[in-house]
Parts: sequence; C-alpha cells; structure tokens
Amino acid sequence: MFLFVLLPVMIVTGIYKLIVKNNRKSIEGKHVVVTGGSSGIGKAVAVMAAKEGANVTILARNLEKLTEAEEEIKKACINNDQIISKVSVDVSNYEAVENNLCEIEETVAPIYMLINCAGMAICGVVEEYTIADIKKIIDVNYLGTLYPIKAIIPKFKERKEGIVVLTASQVALMGMYGYSVYSSVKFALRGLAESLYQEVKPYGIGVTLSLPPDTDTPGFENENKSKPLETKLLSENGGLHQPETVAKKLLDDALTGKFFSYIGFESFILTTLCVGMSPIMSVFDTILQIIILGPLRAIGCFYINKFDKIILDCYKEKSLTKKSQ
Ligand SMILES: NC(=O)c1ccc[n+]([C@@H]2O[C@H](COP(=O)([O-])OP(=O)(O)OC[C@H]3O[C@@H](n4cnc5c(N)ncnc54)[C@H](OP(=O)(O)O)[C@@H]3O)[C@@H](O)[C@H]2O)c1
Repeated sequence: MFLFVLLPVMIVTGIYKLIVKNNRKSIEGKHVVVTGGSSGIGKAVAVMAAKEGANVTILARNLEKLTEAEEEIKKACINNDQIISKVSVDVSNYEAVENNLCEIEETVAPIYMLINCAGMAICGVVEEYTIADIKKIIDVNYLGTLYPIKAIIPKFKERKEGIVVLTASQVALMGMYGYSVYSSVKFALRGLAESLYQEVKPYGIGVTLSLPPDTDTPGFENENKSKPLETKLLSENGGLHQPETVAKKLLDDALTGKFFSYIGFESFILTTLCVGMSPIMSVFDTILQIIILGPLRAIGCFYINKFDKIILDCYKEKSLTKKSQ
C-alpha cells in the first residue's frame, strides 16, 4: 500500500513544495512581533526573522530573559537599520497587551507579522490538576493568543495586510493521555485560527496554525516534570526536534500562506487525517487529501490501537504494584 499510494504522493508533494517555495513573502524591513520570544521556539523564530532582515519585537514577562534574548537576536541582524526591541508584558492581560502593541506600532513600525509563541504545558490526569493550574493553562495558551490577535487585527484590516501565526501543538489535532487540559486548550486555538482565517481572508491577511512536535526547549524540559509515564511512552516515537527546525518551518509556512505548519511524515499523516473543514489551501492539496484520507485512516487506527495497548499495559502494571503493596 505504501509503494502504490504514499510514495507517488510524497514525490509529487516534494515537487510541489519546490514550486511553492518561490512564492515566499519577504519580511526584510518589516516589523515582526513574537510573543514568548525570550525562550525556546519563540526565540528561535525571532532570531530567524532578524537573519531575514526584519525589525523584531519580543514579548514575554521576565525582563532578564528578555534582555539576554534581545542581545542574541541583535547578533543575528544582517544590517544596521534593523530595530530589535523587547516588551515585558503578561499576554493574558488584555489592556497591557493592547497598550504595548499600540506603543510599538508608534515607536518601531507598523506591525506586519504577529507570531504567537507564548505558551506552556502542565501534564497530568484530569482529576489531579489544581484549579489554579487549569486557569493558568487557559490564560497563557488561549487568552494569551487571542488577546494580541484581538488588539492587532483592526490595524491589519485597515492596512489590508498582515500575517498571524498561532502556535498550537500536535495535540491540537488529537487528544492524548496526560494532556486533557493542555490539549483541549490547543484544540480551541484551531477553532480560533479557522474562524479568524474566514474573517480576515477578504483583507488579504494570512493565518497559520503551527503544530510543533516535541521540541527541545526550556518549556519542554519543564513539561517533562509533570508528564505521566503513559504520556512519555506515547510520545517517545515522535523524537525530539530542535527549536530552529520548528522556527524555520513556521516562518516558511506562514510566509508562503499555508494554514497548517507541521514537521515530518507522522505530522503529515496526522494533519491530513484531521483536515476536516480547515481552509482549502490549493487544488493540489485537496486532491491529495481526497485520494489518501481513506488509507490514512487505516494507518491512524494502527496508532490508536498501539496507544490503547500502551495505556492498558501501564494500567495493569500499576494495578499489580498496588496489590503487592
Ligand atoms: N516545546 C515543545 O515541545 C512544544 C510542542 C508543541 C507546542 N509547543 C508550544 O510552543 C510554544 C512555545 O513553547 P516553548 O517550548 O518554546 O516554551 P518556552 O521555552 O517555555 O518559552 C515560552 C515563552 O513564553 C513566554 N511566556 C510564558 N507565559 C507568558 C505570559 N503569561 N505572558 C508573556 N509571555 C509568556 C515565556 O517567557 P516568560 O516566562 O518570561 O513570560 C517564554 O518566552 C508554546 O505555545 C507551546 O505550547 C511547544
């Protein structure tokens, strides 16, 4: 089945990607704002934008981390005219976000691209979350993405240009043991991205939903502290990616007008399987999805069964340990 269906599809996709790359927009001299730009994926995106000649503003709370990141981003600049700045703000505070975005529109330049990377994960089974942690996950990941978008979209619409990136996760497309709160909040970002796409399309504004796999960042290191064994076992096959790889893909996809941004073959399977009522990107993509969705469901079922077995084995192991105590 692989040879007859997936291999030809991958070859045609490769050729198509080469053609699409030529339509990549430039951010040289443009103002790019990155929330969560002081660490991990956000910092890597900010560095990459600076390497492409953009004026970059990073938003996060901790001033020390912001200053360190600002220095790193400045070193990546390719010309002396680039403006690199930082803003210490909690993205889940709407008034503060709106005021600061208005201010940097005046002091730096009109914002061309808003890349929402601020976010965090705490894992666990649903009954073990504290209410404070649940609210924190919703505030940072959901409101912290919605608020900067709400504040900047009127300006984008007025100028009839702009690009918005929302950073979700692969668990925005599929639920997973240990991610009940985080995954549902990232699912919400997909709803936000799809609705926003329809609202801003007539204005020529782009929307991209980034779906990073496990990425080697301080945030991921922190997330691992609360990860149940089941979650570790379920996600270990996906490997660990570098923030620079994720950042490059995010920028490439957003600047070529893609709706989903993902990395690797497994993510391609997941994203195609979950394409649902997401925006139509091209006739090519749509035909590809129509042809391969059926066979991909079969591959998906294989993974679901594998996941169920891992969870059941862990359950049996825990029950045995409990009995022997
Ligand atoms: N790493 C992964 O494996 C992975 C996988 C899938 C999706 N993601 C998503 O990718 C995004 C970046 O993750 P990462 O791993 O790069 O995280 P990270 O290294 O922990 O960086 C998170 C950034 O967000 C900022 N931030 C957190 N809370 C904030 C708030 N309330 N207001 C303003 N800034 C805030 C942090 O700075 P301050 O703490 O100083 O505010 C930091 O700059 C997140 O949305 C995450 O959910 C990550």
